[in-house]
Amino acid sequence: MPYSVGLQAASAALLSAGFPVLFTTAIIVLLVIVAITSSLQKDVLDAPSRLPIYSLFAIIPFFRRRYDFMNWGFEATGQSAFQFDLLRNKVIVVSGESARQAFFTAKGLDLTEGFKILSGAIPMVRGVTSDLQTKRISLIHKRLAAVQKNEQLSMLIPSMLEDSRRLMETWGNSGSFDPFNNIYELIFQLTVRSLSCAEISDDPCVVSRLKKLYDTLDVGTTPATVLLPWLPTPAMVQKLWATKEIYDIVVAAITAREQSGVSRNDTLQMLLDSGDEKLVVVGFIMGLLIAGARATGTTACWMLTFLGGHPEWRDKAKAEIEGLLASQNAPSESLSSQLASIPLETWETETPALDSIIRETLRVAQPHTAMRRNLGPEMHIDGKLIPSGSYVVYPFSDVHLNPDIYHDPWKFDPNRQPETKSAYSYVGWGGGKTTCLGQRLARIELKIVTALFLLGFRHCIVDGSGKVTPEPPLPNWNDILLCRPPQGSFSLRYERSSATL
Ligand code: HEM
Repeated sequence: MPYSVGLQAASAALLSAGFPVLFTTAIIVLLVIVAITSSLQKDVLDAPSRLPIYSLFAIIPFFRRRYDFMNWGFEATGQSAFQFDLLRNKVIVVSGESARQAFFTAKGLDLTEGFKILSGAIPMVRGVTSDLQTKRISLIHKRLAAVQKNEQLSMLIPSMLEDSRRLMETWGNSGSFDPFNNIYELIFQLTVRSLSCAEISDDPCVVSRLKKLYDTLDVGTTPATVLLPWLPTPAMVQKLWATKEIYDIVVAAITAREQSGVSRNDTLQMLLDSGDEKLVVVGFIMGLLIAGARATGTTACWMLTFLGGHPEWRDKAKAEIEGLLASQNAPSESLSSQLASIPLETWETETPALDSIIRETLRVAQPHTAMRRNLGPEMHIDGKLIPSGSYVVYPFSDVHLNPDIYHDPWKFDPNRQPETKSAYSYVGWGGGKTTCLGQRLARIELKIVTALFLLGFRHCIVDGSGKVTPEPPLPNWNDILLCRPPQGSFSLRYERSSATL
């Protein structure tokens, strides 16, 4: 029979192809079996609708075009919740006000477990950043709170301003840049300064190496590395090397500090003085550095981009900071030392324009999808079954880009009044059980960078061909990390003002 000859020939070819081909084929066969067995499972009556495609076809869009995929899922099922399988993991996507309320408050829904399987760009070192017991996580959170106490944060402000000055000086008197390179790099430096130690943050080469390594983790986060972390794909091997190198950099800095016997006034010292195990110290720096730098970096890039396209808000923010300087009777030296004389409390309570700009930036350009795993017994959200062990996700676009809640939702308008009719109608810093634990630090970083940039430079947006355009680019919600528009489609043109940075 012809087909058996074909099969024979195929198997002979396969056997002579060697281990890599056999291995890949075995994996593909395994995936197909998993996909077929999961599609044969019978759903109970109160289960959310399934997508009208094989689950295998959902994997790539979930990781690569998440915003479009989610919208398509709601449209294709015609429901406010739907489910699909990521290999053997059941994922339920929910939307709407009451789902949002349940999602943010349900006791059994766990963020750490949800994040682990569905995200994966955080360096994973067993016992350091993964498999953390609840006790260790809460210790890390406690130390993060300590970094943000008044005294500690106040101490950080002058160093953050000095870092910003040093990097902005390298931009020269005029030019143009992609904020996702330059501003992101600046925020990375400030985050390293705030969350690690002088040994790392004073050395531009080490900071730049660290940033490259974290970029490798981001780029290397493919569906395969997240779902099949044991599969030795080239991306996985690269990720492992990058993680090891990050680990080595952090451990070397800790060892250098311990061996020097010199006590310094920074976050590492606070961690060491607290007497925590080394693993907690390393986990704190490795894990929070990237979580903090990415979210704050994305927000800073978008804030300055929006301000470049909205001169009225640029002027308002600038006037606000000038007003603060005038009321401080700041010495007329450099801008950075003038800004360093503004007390923490003033930065936090007397900047309504900057606060509105941050709030609106997070609404329009933070493409977060909140992820949880149900570690409790089965439960229902909006009448739909959430089995124990399943994953539940809530896309922030459901609320932040909802025209019923925010009129003309893609429009950047910091004047919007907070919408109060709908529960959890703003979740820029999270909500309910899970709110951002780094918010205080992030807000200060954003304000400092914006203040120094607005006073030190004039800027506007230019399109891909270098022509000034009044329109800021549209945030790309399919880019789950940075919301970044296509590279080369715009840049910020700047020119130094007469003031000394
Ligand atoms: C503009 C910058 C930031 C934004 C917009 C932001 C936003 C958020 C949001 C929305 C959540 C909740 C996530 C969810 O429900 O799925 C969250 C949680 C968290 N954030 Fe941030 N974040 C920022 C910066 C930071 C920084 C700088 C740090 C640390 C240094 C940090 C540490 C955390 C931690 C530890 C959690 C988890 C809280 C928990 O497990 O209960 N964030 N953040």
